Amino acid sequence: MARVLIQFAHPALSKSNVHRVLMDYCRNLKNVTFNDLYESYPDMFIDVDREQRLLLQHDIIVFQYPLYWYSSPAIVKQWLDLVLEHNWAYGARGKALVGKKLLCVISCGGGSDAYTDMGRNHYPVHQFLHPFEQTARTCNMEYLPPFVMYGTYRTTKDDIVQFGEDYQTILSTLTHDKLNMLNYQDATYFNELLPALHTAGAR
Ligand SMILES: Cc1cc2nc3c(=O)[nH]c(=O)nc-3n(C[C@H](O)[C@H](O)[C@H](O)COP(=O)(O)O)c2cc1C
Repeated sequence: MARVLIQFAHPALSKSNVHRVLMDYCRNLKNVTFNDLYESYPDMFIDVDREQRLLLQHDIIVFQYPLYWYSSPAIVKQWLDLVLEHNWAYGARGKALVGKKLLCVISCGGGSDAYTDMGRNHYPVHQFLHPFEQTARTCNMEYLPPFVMYGTYRTTKDDIVQFGEDYQTILSTLTHDKLNMLNYQDATYFNELLPALHTAGAR
């Protein structure tokens, strides 16, 4: 089985509607480690050795967060800046992450219609994630299509529960090494792969 590390970042969890519920679907799963970055490092002093050890112990790294100002909450950037060291994660002698996979799981206040050429936010969400995509490439990791929840200001509890169940299905697919049964290289978003996952009865 593959080991999944969820790097979770939400700076205001007490005000959260979405991620507070999602946590119930991704914590305590077999072969999944849930690492709450703001809980571990409320003062942003990241323990680089601990984080690098965690990375080495896992095959798939998930960044789970709400989209903030078209980017990630600040601790994710701090984490990237400090943990992905030269000649460890990248560079001539930086081989620690080679072959691992990287997946972004994000929620957005804006609806999918806002993330279009003509929409309010002008660009599709996957374009706001290019820094993660290129970071994965630089570290010789494989970047997976992101899993995105849109329109969180209008979502119902049922929508969040459905997203949580789908998230659990994705995590189960990843831990059971069943990704290859999907044509995932052609997908822009992991969301597109869910019908195939449901047909295959993945859980
Ligand atoms: C500081 C801040 C910045 C935000 N920036 C964006 C943004 O750039 N795009 C967007 O679609 N939503 C944005 N939102 C909305 C959040 O993404 C949304 O509220 C969150 O995904 C919902 O998850 P939660 O209920 O777990 O907090 C922002 C919210 C806050 C508080």
